[in-house]
Amino acid sequence: LIHLLSIEGLPRAVLHHILDTASTFLAVNEREVKKVPLLRGKSVFNLFFENSTRTRTTFEIAAKRLSADVLNLDIAKSSASKGESLLDTIANLSAMHADMFVVRHSESGAPYLIAQHCAPHVHVVNAGDGRHAHPTQGLLDMYTIRHYKKDFTKLRVAIVGDIVHSRVARSDIHALTTLGVPEIRAVGPKTLVPGDLREMGVRVCHDMAEGIRDADVIIMLRLQNERMAGAMLPSAGEYFKSYGLTEAKLALAAPDCIVMHPGPINRGVEIDSSVADGRHSVILPQVTFGIAVRMAVMSIIAGNEA
Ligand code: CP
Repeated sequence: LIHLLSIEGLPRAVLHHILDTASTFLAVNEREVKKVPLLRGKSVFNLFFENSTRTRTTFEIAAKRLSADVLNLDIAKSSASKGESLLDTIANLSAMHADMFVVRHSESGAPYLIAQHCAPHVHVVNAGDGRHAHPTQGLLDMYTIRHYKKDFTKLRVAIVGDIVHSRVARSDIHALTTLGVPEIRAVGPKTLVPGDLREMGVRVCHDMAEGIRDADVIIMLRLQNERMAGAMLPSAGEYFKSYGLTEAKLALAAPDCIVMHPGPINRGVEIDSSVADGRHSVILPQVTFGIAVRMAVMSIIAGNEA
């Protein structure tokens, strides 16, 4: 593995190897992340052409815990605003001896373009491209599910919300399928859940109660309004009534169901505060696990494993 651009096509053994490696970076209580010298002397460049709180910050923390030097390019203040192309920006950053680019971009495929054009020793990690893929989010979601549920092969997993615009949903579906989850449901209104998911073995449900009944894992997604230009949007109130996760709806799921969300959450739109902050929610542990998972990805692709 030289780059991590997508989960699609990665074998089950590789996914488990990444998750196993991540667990070595967590202390016994799985709340603290260790500092190790695996990327000492390497330079990691965070290039976020689209906004981020969790992914950008946890990549920075992860790179620092691996003892790398980290540079966060402030895209808004960069010469991209003067018309410099993406590939010219990359060529100039490469001349500063970058070893790894962590790339988020609103255009699907941008990290692939960079991977094709950067020097052979440089590694590229996709930190979310358009609606295409968000592989490290998919991996941290799998880490979270494995942590709480142990065995993927008996689970019912419901992904609820704006699936058509969601790179997280796509990465999760590829990972869940590869890891042997027997029942994956995509739940939401017809306009936001593509019917062709059925060809990937996913059960499509437009009724929320049917979609989350007896689920072991519920992954809630926000409405990606920034990717819906010109579309007829439901009002937040209408959407919440039909697809917002409340305690009453959650009672339909398995009694030990975990509730996940990649963030940012929109309280009162896709999830009620009492659920987001409630005893089934593992939304904040997901964020902590993301540090260890990103450490695993960066150390594996750099060829510097523990
Ligand atoms: N989950 C996620 O990608 O969050 P950010 O957009 O804040 O990075």
